[in-house]
Amino acid sequence: MKVGVLTGGGDCPGLNAVIRSVVRKGIQEYGFDFVGLRDGWLGALQGDVVPLDISSVRGILPRGGTILGSSRTNPFKHEDAVQRVKDTLAAHQVDALIVIGGEDTLGVAANLSQQGVNLVGVPKTIDNDVSGTDYTFGFDTAVGIATEAIDRLHTTAESHMRTLVVEVMGRHSGWIALHAGVAGGANVILIPERPFDIDQVCAWVKNRFKIHYAPIVVAAEGAVPIEGQMILKDRTLDEFGHVRLSGIGEWLAQEIEERTGTDARTTVLGHVQRGGTPSAFDRWLATRFGLHAVDAVKDGDYGKLVALRGTRIIRIPLDGTRAKTKLVDPSLYDEFEVFFG
Ligand code: F6P
Repeated sequence: MKVGVLTGGGDCPGLNAVIRSVVRKGIQEYGFDFVGLRDGWLGALQGDVVPLDISSVRGILPRGGTILGSSRTNPFKHEDAVQRVKDTLAAHQVDALIVIGGEDTLGVAANLSQQGVNLVGVPKTIDNDVSGTDYTFGFDTAVGIATEAIDRLHTTAESHMRTLVVEVMGRHSGWIALHAGVAGGANVILIPERPFDIDQVCAWVKNRFKIHYAPIVVAAEGAVPIEGQMILKDRTLDEFGHVRLSGIGEWLAQEIEERTGTDARTTVLGHVQRGGTPSAFDRWLATRFGLHAVDAVKDGDYGKLVALRGTRIIRIPLDGTRAKTKLVDPSLYDEFEVFFG
């Protein structure tokens, strides 16, 4: 049995830990052979396939990024996608694929699976927005990085008695903003799921100054004012139709300055949240996902996604995750409102 592995979409800490555990268990327990498809679905379209063995995965457990490369290629935006992917797999005698990705990459996997490609999915993303799994790996690392940044911003904000706005990733979902904001003791947390009232934000900011503390406002990049729209970095779309976000932090700081007459600054954390070594939790989760994904291949249980449910790893139909983003529950957000202002 020969198994192909690919990593698609935005990278995240823990991808290498999955690759390592898939290859280690697959070779040691099941006698499988492995190859890697380079740069996500691009490698599947272009036949860019590299050997993958135990020596190629040695030492990669703590390394961020992905040794296989990644891209946001959507094969269905290219001609003859299904045939080209099937041809690549046939040319390299690949019997099954392990696809490690977020909602876009997994959506492609679900489609290909329905068209007869043998594959198993593994959910990843720092955004934690893949439905069907309690957590994705990469998220814990990103939250840790954002929390440390907020801790640091508190002290400089207080020295100057000014507002510090922290913009974190999260296009459709506010998981990073909420977890890091709560862990870092933010005074305002803004998430895409809950359009915000700028007057209310400014009231919270003023309140904070009144008790001689400097406000920290954490905003997900996809947060939107009630009257207004998402702020885009530019209008170019990727192959999955996503625009590039960023700008809400800067907009908030300007509005806060104008409306409250106090000083405000912005820090955009950006890709720092996606880079570098994975946390212990992400290594643990990624390793378990890898072990269970290779078991699913061994069982011939294709068209499935491995997922964390409580402390157990389960298999769910890949199809179920398609086009559904796991959003922050409004009641969870409401739990923390007591800390705002
Ligand atoms: O999909 C994960 C994510 O981190 C989003 O939160 C963010 O909008 C996006 O990636 C940015 O990705 P890239 O820099 O690859 O376009």
